[in-house]
Amino acid sequence: MAEKGSVFITGASTGIGETCALHLDKLGFRVFAGIRKAVDGAALRSRASERLVPVRLDISDEAEISQAARDIVETLGSEGLAGLINNAGIVVGGMLEFIPLDSLRMQLEINVVGQIAVTQAFLPSLRKARGRIVNISSVSGLISSPFTGAYSASKFALEALTDSLRMELQPWNIHVSLVEPGFVQTPIISKSFAAAQEMRAELPAEAVQLYGPAFSAVEDATRRESAKAVPPDVVAKAVEHALTARRPRTRYMVGANSGFQISLARLLPDRWRDSLITRRLGLK
Ligand SMILES: NC(=O)c1ccc[n+]([C@@H]2O[C@H](COP(=O)([O-])OP(=O)(O)OC[C@H]3O[C@@H](n4cnc5c(N)ncnc54)[C@H](OP(=O)(O)O)[C@@H]3O)[C@@H](O)[C@H]2O)c1
Repeated sequence: MAEKGSVFITGASTGIGETCALHLDKLGFRVFAGIRKAVDGAALRSRASERLVPVRLDISDEAEISQAARDIVETLGSEGLAGLINNAGIVVGGMLEFIPLDSLRMQLEINVVGQIAVTQAFLPSLRKARGRIVNISSVSGLISSPFTGAYSASKFALEALTDSLRMELQPWNIHVSLVEPGFVQTPIISKSFAAAQEMRAELPAEAVQLYGPAFSAVEDATRRESAKAVPPDVVAKAVEHALTARRPRTRYMVGANSGFQISLARLLPDRWRDSLITRRLGLK
């Protein structure tokens, strides 16, 4: 049994998940690290202690979720899981008028349904250890802006589900926290630009004519804003607090966009906020 107990992190191949896996491993947790490719598991293993165990998991695949839960629970024996970090996620961008519906479905399947599917599979084990759950949301789960509607919808949904889950799990003292990062230096940023390029190439001419200049302006603004991204360790520290503090917080706003600015923007009347956001994105 590990010094600090055992945790499971989804999406640990790169970025926030990888950093959390290595950070928690260093702190003495036994880390089960969710990866989709064996090569990513081997790379992670080579940088961690012998405790770290890569676990193959695509969170949109129910059979893989059941298998991962069975394997981990079996390894844990009577121990129970001390922490579940629902981190895996993707960004699907694009104008809602033309976004392919299959892309929208995939965004929601992975960032929403997958998170609950994994949580369901691990709750019996979490209950045994009075473990904690940490859901990685985003500032996009608090504020929505043009061309990120699908991603924001997924993170708004995750916020709602997490609030419900927190109250539902109170009887067992299972704490549930949200981490809401602004821009973080991870591959997700370049992946989302690449995906946007691909999507743009497939758009009908009408879409490019209607939205092309606005889409480009938002891409430029996103490039500028993402230059202020913070390193993923900042998120790992918040996750550590959520897992170990005597009184974990329900929400951790971390990263480039200050919590104060976001909180203030949420209090504004809708049209003021729209105007603030569109101006900042260079659309006015
Ligand atoms: N970076 C930011 O600026 C930022 C800001 C706010 C919130 N977030 C959130 O932070 C979380 C981690 O993102 P990141 O920035 O660290 O990006 P990342 O480096 O791209 O990591 C995403 C991880 O999710 C995994 N993943 C994607 N689809 C999956 C699936 N169907 N099943 C299992 N794993 C899957 C990826 O695995 P593969 O390598 O196999 O694709 C990868 O390990 C996401 O939920 C994201 O929304 C990020």
